[in-house]
Amino acid sequence: MTLKILALGGDGIGPEVVAAALRVLDVAAHSVGLDFDLSEDLLHGAAWEKYGCFIRPQTLDKAKASDALLVGATGGPAWDHIIIDGGPEEQDGLMKLRHELDVFACVRHARAWDALLDKTPFRAQTVRGADLVVMRELCGGAMFTRTRGREIHADGSQRAFDLNEYSSAEIERFARVGFEVARRRRSQVVSVDKANVFIAGKLWREVVDEIGKSEFPDVELAHFYADNASYQLCCQPTAFDVILADNLFGDLLSDQSAAIAGSLGMLPSASLADLPRTGRVQGTAIYEPVHGSAPDIAGRGIANPVGMILSLAMMLEYTAGEVNCARKIEGAVDAALNMGHATRDIGGTLGTDAMADAVIAQFRAL
Ligand code: IPM
Ligand code: MG
Repeated sequence: MTLKILALGGDGIGPEVVAAALRVLDVAAHSVGLDFDLSEDLLHGAAWEKYGCFIRPQTLDKAKASDALLVGATGGPAWDHIIIDGGPEEQDGLMKLRHELDVFACVRHARAWDALLDKTPFRAQTVRGADLVVMRELCGGAMFTRTRGREIHADGSQRAFDLNEYSSAEIERFARVGFEVARRRRSQVVSVDKANVFIAGKLWREVVDEIGKSEFPDVELAHFYADNASYQLCCQPTAFDVILADNLFGDLLSDQSAAIAGSLGMLPSASLADLPRTGRVQGTAIYEPVHGSAPDIAGRGIANPVGMILSLAMMLEYTAGEVNCARKIEGAVDAALNMGHATRDIGGTLGTDAMADAVIAQFRAL
């Protein structure tokens, strides 16, 4: 099988971390005899500067015909003021890709690295061994609602709104992937909502509960209010395996969980449109670090490439089905960190390429 990969560096530090991860891909793919066909293109601000749109139609077509997209990061102050006609997906090239590919299930993996325990805000004994996934619903809720707008009243005051809506079908399909991810891990799910306040939260809880009980009786399920989940994540990060959250809560909880890893630069993600009971994902998936474009350090070669490299490992696991190779990349990151290799965000002095080199050297040694 030849994997079709489209790399979209995007903006800020995005192209730098993608370039570093592609070097890891060369070595990792070669080690397991995996063939891939790689193309690259521009996304969001970079596309705007050259083509005057956040994503070209031909890029979108190419994305749909790919097995996996590797995305660096999008956005920056230069493009924040641009408002395009249409829904939220028109305002950002990455949001457009998520919407068009319907990658509704985003897997964001956070773990405590032994070498970085003292770089976290936690006491070592609280965070050691933490390894969890925040599953974020990625194509619905307030972030993609059509019921949004801004009104200016006669007295000059304003009203703005983004409806936090979910259908049972959207919750169902997301919950199924979440439970499948849990089965591939420690089979413990905590679903978060504000069912005590929001009607959409009540539906969320009922639907997740029904799917869990009827289709995944082997997976342990608990329901937490989102505020309490956030608090428990601070107090006992090791108690969590898989968290199921809507688009907004998942955005917040995935950034919060990055504190466990010691830096937002360490977190990978996989955005999926399906996940079979066993085997590899069929639909196009997006693999990207959780961090943003960090315009303040862009172009200096100092960004942490680990979030992108670990996203590549998720691609090898989910899209290529090369689970052992994925584990080996994670092992190589762990080993590189244990030897003291680190970028500035995690207390070291290495640049982006040198950090990738350290991971590659450990990969070869494993
Ligand atoms: C993320 C980011 C994006 C989001 C932004 C850049 C639109 O914060 O992937 O978590 O909110 O989805
Ligand atoms: Mg975010």
